[in-house]
Amino acid sequence: MGSLRFPSGPADEQPVSSFGRDDIGWTPIMEEAQRATRVLHPDTLELPRPTHRRIITVANQKGGVGKTTSTVNLAAGLALHGLKVLVIDLDPQGNASTALGVEHRSGVPSVYEVLLGEINVADAAAQSTQSNNLWCVPATIDLAGSEIELVTMVAREGRLKEALNSEAVDQLAPDYVFVDCPPSLGLLTVNALVAAHEVLIPIQCEYYALEGLGQLLRNIELVQSHLNPALWVSTILLTMYDGRTKLADQVTAEVRAHFGDLTLRTVIPRSVKISEAPGFAQTILTYDPGSRGAMSYLDAAREIAERGAERKTA
Ligand SMILES: Nc1ncnc2c1ncn2[C@@H]1O[C@H](COP(=O)(O)OP(=O)(O)OP(=O)(O)O)[C@@H](O)[C@H]1O
Ligand SMILES: [Mg+2]
Repeated sequence: MGSLRFPSGPADEQPVSSFGRDDIGWTPIMEEAQRATRVLHPDTLELPRPTHRRIITVANQKGGVGKTTSTVNLAAGLALHGLKVLVIDLDPQGNASTALGVEHRSGVPSVYEVLLGEINVADAAAQSTQSNNLWCVPATIDLAGSEIELVTMVAREGRLKEALNSEAVDQLAPDYVFVDCPPSLGLLTVNALVAAHEVLIPIQCEYYALEGLGQLLRNIELVQSHLNPALWVSTILLTMYDGRTKLADQVTAEVRAHFGDLTLRTVIPRSVKISEAPGFAQTILTYDPGSRGAMSYLDAAREIAERGAERKTA
């Protein structure tokens, strides 16, 4: 975005435990164990249940900014702490399905058949290996041709919305629905924006991550004015923050200056563990619950849950 300047400012520091580095007897392993306990034990953190089903589309047409990683880890964070979550994988790459341990080879019931109206969401949803509260409608490679197939269909922008408004979804009764978008602004992303109440935009803490954001926001405005007036950008999530680079701090400050309180206080650090987890069909919360990456995604999930609750009572 050309209009964005880069004032410098401190990054948001997140305390990770009550027992800190300066306390006598502190060890890194102890800190890790404390984090793992918080991440894995639902009784240590109670997340408010939203009063209405929240449908959140995770979008950014720029590739590789952390859409899928954020979708699956936020979903897992909410699910591990008692909320029922449905993830719709709307990217033919099927990365969210992989990370959630859900089969997505060609031929399995998937979001493709749901968009065509052949099956309902409940028929396509599979339980994730990551939590009993977590369900995923997988994407298979069949979805790759769907943008073209959808063009000739009736109400082509509203296919996902229609599918999510069905009784089948009421049977699953998710508190949260997350829709993981492909890196484009095509018909699949438009379907996700029409179906949602909220947009979550992950922004990578790198210079080029800001480019193209204006185009995404203009597209969201177009959907708002023509197809879904209730849609709003509720959440900005800074991802892949590398504390060793000055640029990461600059981008963080810039995004906060531009988006204000929409930006979550929690920033997701760049971490090898986060990128390894999908290779084991896991989220970071189960792959390495004691890591800072796991803690930060749980903190982000908590912020999202608490903000939703605040908004409803405000
Ligand atoms: N916090 C992080 N630290 C390190 N690596 C990360 C982090 N978040 C994501 N990655 C890695 O960066 C790559 C891109 O992430 P991801 O797939 O989530 O982005 P995406 O926006 O969904 O990409 P696409 O546009 O292709 O769908 C992946 O290899 C992922 O494992
Ligand atoms: Mg992705």
